[in-house]
Amino acid sequence: MIDEIIIIGTGKVAYHFAKEINNNPKLKLIQILGRSKRINSHFNEFSDIYSSNFSKLKKSKYCIIAVSDNSVKSVSINIKKFEGTVLHTSGSINMSILNTHLKFGVIYPLQTFSFDRNIDFNKIPLLVEASNNKTLNELIDFSSKLSKKTIIMNSDKRLICHLSAVFANNFTNHLIYTSEKLLKKFDIDKDLIHPLCEETILKIKSISSYDAQTGPASRNDLETIENHINFLKKNNLTFSIDIYKSITESIIKTKFDKQ
Ligand SMILES: NC(=O)c1ccc[n+]([C@@H]2O[C@H](COP(=O)([O-])OP(=O)(O)OC[C@H]3O[C@@H](n4cnc5c(N)ncnc54)[C@H](OP(=O)(O)O)[C@@H]3O)[C@@H](O)[C@H]2O)c1
Repeated sequence: MIDEIIIIGTGKVAYHFAKEINNNPKLKLIQILGRSKRINSHFNEFSDIYSSNFSKLKKSKYCIIAVSDNSVKSVSINIKKFEGTVLHTSGSINMSILNTHLKFGVIYPLQTFSFDRNIDFNKIPLLVEASNNKTLNELIDFSSKLSKKTIIMNSDKRLICHLSAVFANNFTNHLIYTSEKLLKKFDIDKDLIHPLCEETILKIKSISSYDAQTGPASRNDLETIENHINFLKKNNLTFSIDIYKSITESIIKTKFDKQ
């Protein structure tokens, strides 16, 4: 049976779910709802199923709320008399936020999404939970049509995965931004560090992140560390001094605790 789906939101996650569902012969995207009258240009291919009228929600098996975390509750309350299952896609919001609905659940994709990047959805861990067993079994079936990695997980554990994702992705990306900013400030090609970034990620697939750690902090090379901090201070690069100090301390402590 083909499941019909509605998506609320016109952000990055909504876009990737929309594309994936649209390309899946076992699923049918029947409506996209957004708050703006004019559709976000990334969604142009979906203009015929777009609406900003939340009172005209179509009948469907699933309604996926993929909006900013702090709007999930208000959007959910706005959905009235929906007989299908209402899902949100957030890593950090408890499923109970949707408990005004008959059937509800969560489908959290443990991945980072941007508009201009294609992602192999099949490989994304989809963390799911639902309000009752029947809804959960149906959700697992739906999720398995999108990815090979469906994992049942409750809200408390999902929050831990989200926190872990913040360290692994959001912080790493910010550190790369900081690193590129430093190079650009001194007219050095920022792409010079890209092979290093690639190897950083590749090597943790074959050796542990603990063993993969290199650099002055892991060697407890205090003179080099002091030189770096003095350089940052002398050049007024205050934005990066606290980051440098706090991560250096953490690396030294990690090494020391394990010995
Ligand atoms: N980005 C990721 O990598 C990622 C990964 C996994 C899970 N998630 C989760 O997925 C959800 C969506 O994230 P995202 O990254 O797609 O966000 P996003 O790109 O920032 O887009 C947020 C969307 O929410 C809409 N929105 C906000 N308040 C609204 C309201 N009151 N009514 C209707 N629409 C509203 C925005 O509408 P306008 O365009 O009109 O402002 C926008 O379309 C979040 O719960 C997030 O935690 C994100």
